[in-house]
Amino acid sequence: MSTPRTATSPAAPLTRAEVLALPKVELHLHIEGTLEPELILRLAERNGIRLPYADLDDLRARYEFTDLQSFLNLYYANMAVLQTAEDFADLTRAYLARAQQAGVRHAEVFLDPQAHTVRGVALATCVSGVADVLEQSEAEFGMTSALIVTFLRDRPAAEALAVLTELIEMEAPIEGIGLDSAEVGHPPVDFEEVFALARAHGLECVAHAGEEGPPEYVWQALTLLQVARVDHGIRSLEDDALVSHLVERQIALTVCPFSNVRLRVVDTLADHPLPAMLARGLAVTVNSDDPAYFGGYLDDNFQALVTTFGLGATELATLSRNAVLAAFLTEEQREPLLVAIEEWQAVVA
Ligand code: ADE
Ligand code: ZN
Repeated sequence: MSTPRTATSPAAPLTRAEVLALPKVELHLHIEGTLEPELILRLAERNGIRLPYADLDDLRARYEFTDLQSFLNLYYANMAVLQTAEDFADLTRAYLARAQQAGVRHAEVFLDPQAHTVRGVALATCVSGVADVLEQSEAEFGMTSALIVTFLRDRPAAEALAVLTELIEMEAPIEGIGLDSAEVGHPPVDFEEVFALARAHGLECVAHAGEEGPPEYVWQALTLLQVARVDHGIRSLEDDALVSHLVERQIALTVCPFSNVRLRVVDTLADHPLPAMLARGLAVTVNSDDPAYFGGYLDDNFQALVTTFGLGATELATLSRNAVLAAFLTEEQREPLLVAIEEWQAVVA
């Protein structure tokens, strides 16, 4: 597969083929964030929607962000083209095809139902459009998947509660719930009741916290929402007691390197604390967040870590193993993935 790496010669950087071959698990991926510019234009035409962009270049020129909100403005505006279950299905199929190329073996996919229901799209339309394709992911793309519905924290908690209640009543095929959108000023405590209802129905819980918001929001997500994983969580590093808590319990953080750079949470990738987080023993995982907006999919994020920090097989295997361990999988599903990572490591070592 590559030049042998021996104890006496310094390890050569992992090749692109080796990075691609690493069995990967994606735990932080917004399906709406995989809406590529080309698909936006195609769906606009199919649905007879007039977009405020002259052409593809004009649209692409807007992918410059100063913070989370500046991204969210474009992200929500572009969703106007998602109208029918077929649109959501096409979007999901395109992601799965790309994820398969990236070496993704299991994906837990976020969907923002309120971003669609507020525009008049029925809840069943967006959920079934995505879920029906995810159900075929193993047969069609060789990867397992799960659906997590995420609630918009900058909308009222009562609305989230109503949507969750409707999802439960319709027996929607969801694995869990999450919390996303504009973080600062919208603390997890506001959503305690929503998460309590989810837990009472056996749903898994995750939440974005510590992306732009303070460590206090991560504490709230852990103690009040009782999340199993924290999405982003990189501002946890500002609170040593929180880091100890996360390390002791091995609570996974779904870190998104490209996202953090493009949303200016960090200045450049070289400034990203991911290597320091690994060194402190945090259960770090690598994810792509909104790959159509942030310059790359999961393989690209891993590749950039190799190129920028010189991460090797041991670190990449640890990152991928952390994701397998944090995934909402049965032990029977987890074991072959752990074996596949070990086999990858043996081949590239
Ligand atoms: N929705 C989509 N991407 C997001 C992010 N990075 N943070 C918060 N909400 C989001
Ligand atoms: Zn996110």
